[in-house]
Amino acid sequence: MPIKGVLPIVLQAKKDGFQGIILPKQNAEEAAIVEGIAVYPVEDLSDTCSFLLGIRQVAPLRIDVQEIFNQQVNGYEMDFSDVKGQENIKRALEIAAAGGHNVILIGPPGSGKTMLAKRIPSILPPLSMEESLETTKIHSVSGQLAATESLLTIRPFRSPHHTISDVALVGGGANPQPGEISLAHNGVLFLDELPEFKRSVLEVMRQPLESRSITISKAKITVDYPASFMLIAAMNPCPCGFYNHPSRNCTCGYINVQKYLSRISGPLLDRIDIHIEVTPVEFNELTTVRATEKSGSIRERVILARRIQEQRFKDLEHIHSNAQMRVRNIREYCLIDEIGKGLLKKAMDKLNLSSRAYDRILKVARTIADLDNSVAIKIEHLAEAIQYRSLDRENWTN
Ligand SMILES: Nc1ncnc2c1ncn2[C@@H]1O[C@H](COP(=O)(O)OP(=O)(O)OP(=O)(O)O)[C@@H](O)[C@H]1O
Ligand SMILES: [Mg+2]
Repeated sequence: MPIKGVLPIVLQAKKDGFQGIILPKQNAEEAAIVEGIAVYPVEDLSDTCSFLLGIRQVAPLRIDVQEIFNQQVNGYEMDFSDVKGQENIKRALEIAAAGGHNVILIGPPGSGKTMLAKRIPSILPPLSMEESLETTKIHSVSGQLAATESLLTIRPFRSPHHTISDVALVGGGANPQPGEISLAHNGVLFLDELPEFKRSVLEVMRQPLESRSITISKAKITVDYPASFMLIAAMNPCPCGFYNHPSRNCTCGYINVQKYLSRISGPLLDRIDIHIEVTPVEFNELTTVRATEKSGSIRERVILARRIQEQRFKDLEHIHSNAQMRVRNIREYCLIDEIGKGLLKKAMDKLNLSSRAYDRILKVARTIADLDNSVAIKIEHLAEAIQYRSLDRENWTN
C-alpha cells in the first residue's frame, strides 16, 4: 500500500547512508527525485521477498529531475492577458509580486477579484530547485502528490473555503499534518471573502505570517513546518457588495459597512501592505479585442526587481524581499528626502492615514523604486505607494 511522506523519508535515508530503498510502486516516482539512492518499486510482499532473495531482478527507477523541472517550470495555464482592462490593478499586483507584499482586493461581486488572484502565481519568479523540493516535501507528507507526480514545479495556489477550521488552515491533528499555510509554502494563499472566515481562524494565522513557519505541538511531538507564502485576500466592501460602486447604490448604511470591515482584525490588516480597490470593467472594455500584456513579460520585470532585493539583503538571514523588512531595515533602506517627507506628511494628514500606514508605504515605495531600477526612492514612487492604503483611511466608511 502506498504511504504518505515518502520524499522526506528517502531524503533522510540517503543522509543516513542507505544505498537503496524498497517502496510501493505508487510512491516510486516521488522518491526517485532524490539522487544518490536507488529506489526499487515493488508490487507486493511476495515481489519484495523474491527481490531480497535474488530470485527476481527489480530495476531501480531513475528519473531525470532536471529535465522534469525544465519542462514544467513555466507551465502555468492561467495568464494575465485573459483579464481585460484593469491595468491599474495589474500594476498593483506586479508591485506585490515584485516585493513579496501581501495584498487585499476590495470590490463588488463580479469585478474580477478571484480571476485576478488566481493569476498571481504566473507572474512570480519560477521556483528554484531548492524551493521546489521544500514545497514537494510538504505535499508529500500530506499525501497530496498524485502517483504520477514527482516534483512540484509550479508555485502552489491554495484557496481554502471560509468554513475551514484552525487545524486545517495552520496544521495539526493527532499525527501533525501540514495545513493550508504550509501547502502554500513558496506560493500563494488566497482567502476569498475574508470577512466570512471565523475570527479565531484568522488569528492563528498571525504568528506564521511573521515567522514564515509554524510550530505544531501535540502530546510528545513537536513539528515545524515551513509556511512562507504570499497572502492574497479578497472581500466585498460591505454586505450588499456595492459600497463605493461607480454606478450602483449601496443599501447597507454606514454602521453596517463599518461592522463588516471590523470583522477583520487590525493586527491582521497590519500585515497586509497593499490594499487595492477593484471596480468592474465596462462592458465595452470586456468585449474589446485589444491585446493585453502576457504574464511572462510582467514576470520578467518582477524577476529583475527581486534580483535587486537579493543583492540588498544578501547579508541578512531570513530577509529576502522588501515585504520582510523589519523596522530597522526600513530605516536603513527606505530613506526619503525632505520633499518626500513633506509629501508623506501631507498625505497622512489629508487622507487621515493611521500611523501604521507609514512604514507600509515606505516598503511599497522601495519596491516601486526597485521596479524602476532606481537606487533612490523618488517622489513619484512614494506618491504611487500612498494610493495602496485604502482601508487605512479613517474615512473609508465615511
Ligand atoms: N476584467 C475582466 N476581464 C475578463 N473577464 C472578466 C473581467 N472581470 C470579470 N470578468 C468575468 O467575470 C467573472 C466573475 O469574476 P470573478 O469571479 O473574478 O469576480 P469576483 O470579484 O471574485 O466576484 P465575487 O465577489 O462574487 O466573488 C469572471 O469569471 C470573468 O469571466
Ligand atoms: Mg470571487
